[in-house]
Amino acid sequence: MKTKILSASQIKEAASLIKKGCLVAFPTETVYGLGADALNAAAAAAIFAAKGRPHSNPLIVHCCDLDQVRSIAVLTTDAEILARAFWPGPLTMVLRKKDVVPDVVTSGSGTVGVRIPAHPVALKLIRAAGVPVAAPSANAYMRTSPTKAEHVLEDLDGKIAAVIKAGQSKIGVESTVVDLTSRVPRVLRPGGIAFRRLKKALPATQDYTGVASKKSPGQHKYHYCPKAPLVPVRSSAEAVRLMKKNAHRKSAILSYTEWIPKFSGLRVEVYDWGRKADMERLAKRLYGGLRHLDAKGADVIYCPLPAESGLGQAIVNRLKKACGA
Ligand code: TXA
Ligand code: MG
Repeated sequence: MKTKILSASQIKEAASLIKKGCLVAFPTETVYGLGADALNAAAAAAIFAAKGRPHSNPLIVHCCDLDQVRSIAVLTTDAEILARAFWPGPLTMVLRKKDVVPDVVTSGSGTVGVRIPAHPVALKLIRAAGVPVAAPSANAYMRTSPTKAEHVLEDLDGKIAAVIKAGQSKIGVESTVVDLTSRVPRVLRPGGIAFRRLKKALPATQDYTGVASKKSPGQHKYHYCPKAPLVPVRSSAEAVRLMKKNAHRKSAILSYTEWIPKFSGLRVEVYDWGRKADMERLAKRLYGGLRHLDAKGADVIYCPLPAESGLGQAIVNRLKKACGA
């Protein structure tokens, strides 16, 4: 199959492909998604095939407004509070599903992950398609999520009908997933909405525990991986020591800007990730940085783990998964 590269002005064509049951990758404010008609079981099944993703890991369904959300899921009072506070935006709510949603989308779970994305192209696409759009991140299974169309093509060229090319995703890490089907609301995956903001809107919300539960099938060991092994470091001195010790390997580092002078004179590929305190920049450049270092042929990638506050919690979660930690 030849994958078409569409522009943001070709939404109609993209929407008609979705309506026909084809797969179209599209931009969201978090990462690019791989979209299909969420009410068409065969189309949703094709997503799993294209990504090489196991059927046990359910898909997020993207809607353009609350009426569409209500057509596929039961919006509880708590869900309405979070919807008002964070939608459109990087929050996915796990809710009781309605019968129209095929089991393949939800892995037969009786619940469905739903979000209204804050990206004009995504919203226009869903509206034009006239159906909710199931979309996981548009990467090959276990790999880093794509934050631009080029990343989607690296993983899925020839396997999907089209990709809408519309610049870089603003946030750069995936949505926060919160389960609203249990007694207390609980974060299943940290992401674009920081926990303290959720807690402020809905004080009963429990934080992500780091423990993979049955409720969060996507949170298994090894995920978001670059091709080269990823090794966390606590300081620039530790990075330098490891680089010298492993001088026979092609070392690379996702480096804080402040650390870069420490690596001068060493044979190492350096990616200027951003300043240590600039979590927004670090989140936005995380996956692109890892892909850049892979493309440079790194044998090993070192990286610091930022402070786990705000977006830092999501960044550290992804980096730890990528290390299998
Ligand atoms: O920002 C995002 O969330 C991006 C963009 C494209 O929206 N999507 C994304 O999808 O990251 P994906 O499939 O890569 O991750 C979805 C996560 C997985 O951890 C999955 O297990 C969880 O959401 N999830 C989806 N539906 C669920 C459900 N019904 N119950 C529990 N977890 C669910
Ligand atoms: Mg993913």
